[in-house]
Amino acid sequence: MQITSNISLKNLNTFGIEAEAKYFTEIQSVDNIIELLNTKEYKNNAHLILGGGSNLLLTKNVDALVIKNNLKGISIVKENDDAVWVKCAAGEVWHEFVMWCIQHNFGGLENLSLIPGCTGASPMQNIGAYGVEIKDTFYELEAFHLETGKQQLFSKSDCEFGYRESVFKQQLKNQFIITSVTFQLSKKPTFHIEYGAIKQELETMHISELSIKAISQAVINIRSSKLPNPKEIGNAGSFFKNPEVPAETYLKLKQEFPNLVAYPLENSNYKLAAGWLIEQSGLKGLKVGDGGVHKLQALVLVNYGKATGKEIYDLSTHVLQTVNAKFGVTLEREVNII
Ligand code: FAD
Ligand code: EPU
Repeated sequence: MQITSNISLKNLNTFGIEAEAKYFTEIQSVDNIIELLNTKEYKNNAHLILGGGSNLLLTKNVDALVIKNNLKGISIVKENDDAVWVKCAAGEVWHEFVMWCIQHNFGGLENLSLIPGCTGASPMQNIGAYGVEIKDTFYELEAFHLETGKQQLFSKSDCEFGYRESVFKQQLKNQFIITSVTFQLSKKPTFHIEYGAIKQELETMHISELSIKAISQAVINIRSSKLPNPKEIGNAGSFFKNPEVPAETYLKLKQEFPNLVAYPLENSNYKLAAGWLIEQSGLKGLKVGDGGVHKLQALVLVNYGKATGKEIYDLSTHVLQTVNAKFGVTLEREVNII
């Protein structure tokens, strides 16, 4: 394990923001973490754990030890006729892991195809797309407690998963390095095709027999058609969460804005499509310097080249204020601001 200093993070965050880490190291094993805890760079500095850097906005140089998680390995830990428990190390690239599951015909993660980042970050915000969240197949995770130097197991209820939320984003923030995640996948998959344009895309693809592979491909096609590829345009996916409002607020807004896009929730609240609110506020396609609101998906803020993290952050504040002024709804940032 090697610790270097003043390292550029430009290629390690999908926004492509130029920022330096005071110290930087990569961990390949749990032993590396134990070794790291005894170093002066760890003891004398704050730390930031980094996966694929696809849910971060770096607003300044990182005055901390950046720990890039590179733990690898996928293994089957248990199986029966119906299900299989697959353990995936935190540093595995999420989409590659999903593809591995599909190749083995293990169902449950196909709707989450093409989400950037590493498996270790997937429980952080309970990643979700196309009607599925990881909590639906999550079994348990192992995490290293930095204060005690011990590995700990977390069950689904321990993780307190919510919409783009978990205990690791709240009470336990920065206290654990997630080292592996185990999913309970199905050998006899149930297909989830109700959400969004999946059915329509499957028709366009002329799929005669439904399979997890076909659903994965449909999701890949839809995502590629509207979400900017971070290799071409810097971004971190949805910058804001879709806000949840009480039914009363929803009804008032619906009266004033009959085309409002919203989804009823089980708790009788409504989730509003933040992309719609931003677009209707006239901000879709807005460019400020090299920062912008994406022209195909208004919920995604983008870096067209040399925008700084501060510029993107200021743009997000402008979006927040404009949406609030028009609709009286306060958006919450989804991306982790560093
Ligand atoms: P990073 O950005 O590196 O880290 C995110 C947070 O987790 C940080 O706070 C970091 O400190 C912490 N962290 C990372 N790894 C660990 C670990 N091992 N232990 C402890 N803490 C850790 N998200 C969705 O939910 N659904 C989507 O559909 C979706 N689409 C996206 C599309 C695009 C084009 C992009 C760029 C992003 C999208 N995202 C989406 C957001 C992002 O891909 C996910 O949040 C992803 O899980 C982040 O993984 P990462 O490894 O890049 O995390
Ligand atoms: N919409 C607009 N204008 C826009 C964008 C969206 O009017 O510019 C409206 C459309 O009516 C559309 C609706 O909003 O039907 C929903 O849009 P979309 O299906 O693109 O999904 P989203 O709500 O914008 C969420 C997640 C995404 C996830 C998709 C698919 C959040 C914050 N975002 O986006 O997750 O991939 O659904 O399930 O929940 C991410 O978290 O980074 C992310 C990309």
